[in-house]
Amino acid sequence: MKIFIPANQKGGVGKTNTAFNFTHYLAEEGNRVLGVDGDEQGNYSRAMSDYVQLGLGASQLFGETPVVLPDAAGAVTVLHADKENLRAVERSGVSDAQLVSNLRARLNELASCFDYLVIDSAGSNSRITNALLFVSDFAVIPTKIDQDSIDVSVEVLKRIASIKSTWNPAMVNLGILPNEYDSRQPAQVKSLKALLGKYPQFIFPAFIADRSAYREASAARTPVWRLKSEADGRTKTSTRDAAVEMRTVFRMLLDRMEAQP
Ligand SMILES: Nc1ncnc2c1ncn2[C@@H]1O[C@H](COP(=O)(O)OP(=O)(O)OP(=O)(O)O)[C@@H](O)[C@H]1O
Ligand SMILES: [Mg+2]
Repeated sequence: MKIFIPANQKGGVGKTNTAFNFTHYLAEEGNRVLGVDGDEQGNYSRAMSDYVQLGLGASQLFGETPVVLPDAAGAVTVLHADKENLRAVERSGVSDAQLVSNLRARLNELASCFDYLVIDSAGSNSRITNALLFVSDFAVIPTKIDQDSIDVSVEVLKRIASIKSTWNPAMVNLGILPNEYDSRQPAQVKSLKALLGKYPQFIFPAFIADRSAYREASAARTPVWRLKSEADGRTKTSTRDAAVEMRTVFRMLLDRMEAQP
């Protein structure tokens, strides 16, 4: 089971948008996918509500006992953000090391049931987010292309480098993925160029543009390539462009993940 996480301690940069669409993409590629919502806001759980298993909360991954899945689970199974229990984990007296150790043990028990685990995490430096990062195999850093967001993303690059050098040497950093990018804005074009000049090896070689279809798809709880955006069931050109763009980015991500043993 390969573990994928969109990581960024900044809020509203596209972590959930990436996670929920990618969960669908992996399933459509024939994979068994476990989705975990580690963010008590529950945005991923809402977008994936058709796949949530009642009674199975993400907090259970941090406990001492195995998570028991229902026999009839389909290609996608989601452990939703059980807010109160996640908060209890966050505030518990259990050490960070023990949380990571419990999480590893629970995921190892589930590993034979899934090909991929997709994690949605909070835009904050919580203990839960850190533990989830420590066990992940692949991280991508979605970011908006404005100076504040870029500064935070560079911090995330450093944080991942530090996690790789200590807790999780095998982790692969798939790089900064520009999101909500608008190539008609000269300031954004300039900022992205500067970022590429400074960290060429850490910038993912594609971007996701600013398109309303992403917001509509998330509200409709469907991946953007299945969104029917007009009353007669037809798809707008701008929605089709979003679908092609997102699937292209996901194919590139998956190629990189499949290339790893
Ligand atoms: N490329 C995009 N174009 C247009 N809207 C987008 C795009 N990516 C994300 N959004 C929208 O922006 C908002 C924030 O995105 P998202 O929820 O994915 O961010 P996040 O990093 O998960 O935020 P948080 O840290 O609060 O969990 C959402 O309403 C989402 O639908
Ligand atoms: Mg989110």
